This record gives sequence, C-alpha cells and structure tokens, in this order.
Amino acid sequence: MRGVLLAGGTGSRLAPLTDTTNKHLLPIAGRPMVEYAIEALVRAGVTEVMVVTAATYLDAFVELLGDGSHLGLAALDFGGQERAGGIAEALGLAKSFVGSEPMVVMLADNIVERSLRPTVAAFEANPVGARLVLSEVTEPEHLRHLGIAEFGDHGEVIRVHEKPQDPPSNYAVTGVYCYDATVFDVISTLVPSGRGELEITDVNNHYIATGNLAHDVLAGFWGDAGESMQAYEDVNDFVATHGVNKD
Ligand code: G1P
Repeated sequence: MRGVLLAGGTGSRLAPLTDTTNKHLLPIAGRPMVEYAIEALVRAGVTEVMVVTAATYLDAFVELLGDGSHLGLAALDFGGQERAGGIAEALGLAKSFVGSEPMVVMLADNIVERSLRPTVAAFEANPVGARLVLSEVTEPEHLRHLGIAEFGDHGEVIRVHEKPQDPPSNYAVTGVYCYDATVFDVISTLVPSGRGELEITDVNNHYIATGNLAHDVLAGFWGDAGESMQAYEDVNDFVATHGVNKD
C-alpha cells in the first residue's frame, strides 16, 4: 500500500499565519503539522509515501523531511503543484508514484487520536474501489465546513455532501481515503466545482454510484486543523493535552 500525503492549498483560512508559509509547516504542540500525518501513516504500516505540496514550498518540505527515515519512512517522494487546484488535482500528481498499487491518501492537516491501521488493513484485504473514514461531529457549525455523509437504510453511504447548509447526518468525511488505482481515471473525468477545484467529494460520489465505496467510523478524536483558526487552536490544545496517533 502506498501513501499520498496532500499538503498543498493556500491555507487562506489560517491567514495571516499562512501568508508566508505553508499551513502544514505550522506548529502543533511543538512539531510541524505534517509530521503527525506521516506518523499516522507509518503507524498504520504505510512507509512508502509521496508528499504533494505547492511548488513554492517544495524546498522547505525537502529540508524538513529529508528522506523521511527519521520518521520511519522507507521511501519518500515529493511532488509540486503549480497552483492550488483542489485535493483531487493534487492526488493526480501522485499517479506515477502509486502506479497500480492500492493507496491511502491523507490530508496533512488532519490529526487522528487513534490508529488508522484497521482501515488500512481492511482495504489491503479487499483493495477495490474506495474506503472512507468518517468521524462523528456534533457541532452544526463544523458540519457545514466539511464533507458530510448521507446514509441509506442499511447504514451504507449513499452520498457525500460538500459543505452542506443542511447537514444530512453528524458524520463528517475525514481527510483519510483509500483508493485503488482506478482513482486516476476518475480524476481525469472531473470538472472544477464552484470554488474552482477538482473535489475529492466528486471522486467519492463516483465510487458510491458504481457501488464500490465502503467506510469506517473512526474512534477517538479527529481534527481538521486547517478548517479555521479556532479549529487550529482546538487541535493544538487536544494534541498538547492528550497526545495523538495512539494504538
Ligand atoms: C476537505 C474535503 C472535505 C473533508 C475535509 C476534511 O475540505 O473537501 O470533504 O471533510 O477536507 O479535512 P477542505 O479542507 O478542502 O475544505
């Protein structure tokens, strides 16, 4: 299983902190944010990883992460995005790195308390289509900033709604996704959304439509540190108090 860590975007919701640096290099409890996502992948047994970031910040990531061996990585590759064209566009840059392998994709501003190993193991056992990781979120304000799952009668996800005004459930789609290599064909069919980006939610809705999407619900804390300044501070406090990436 290959890992793709997405660390691009403009980080505008964390301005002015992100006016002069990349969001994923900002500190969380004394460490650069991106290191928590790498640690989560390594602890899930994924040690061959590509980091995709904005071309402007590639040098900074290379300087920080080197060959990744000090973080437990066996292989570390980098890709540079010329412009912030969305999560799905960034994932498309990993096509030759991933080849025909199954992959776990993680947004590098996502922080998880508990191990991703069960999800990775389930996808390794049946590496077909897509597998989402959901997290229960109770505050409506959060739900309106995220991708939200709508469920069918048998508990299956029947649609993902991106930043809905009227959330259909309390289950957010985290930035952890497993895909088989057909994802690159799906990405090539996407058209930019209203915010001008190739949306990962459109990719996930494609797999729902073809009946090839499974999901897990994450135990413990999950945070999207890039969601807002408040979320960044809340994630920082949680990590400092409780620690993350536990088994
Ligand atoms: C992205 C996805 C959204 C998901 C979130 C998780 O949102 O589009 O579906 O819930 O990541 O971090 P964005 O950070 O691009 O607003």
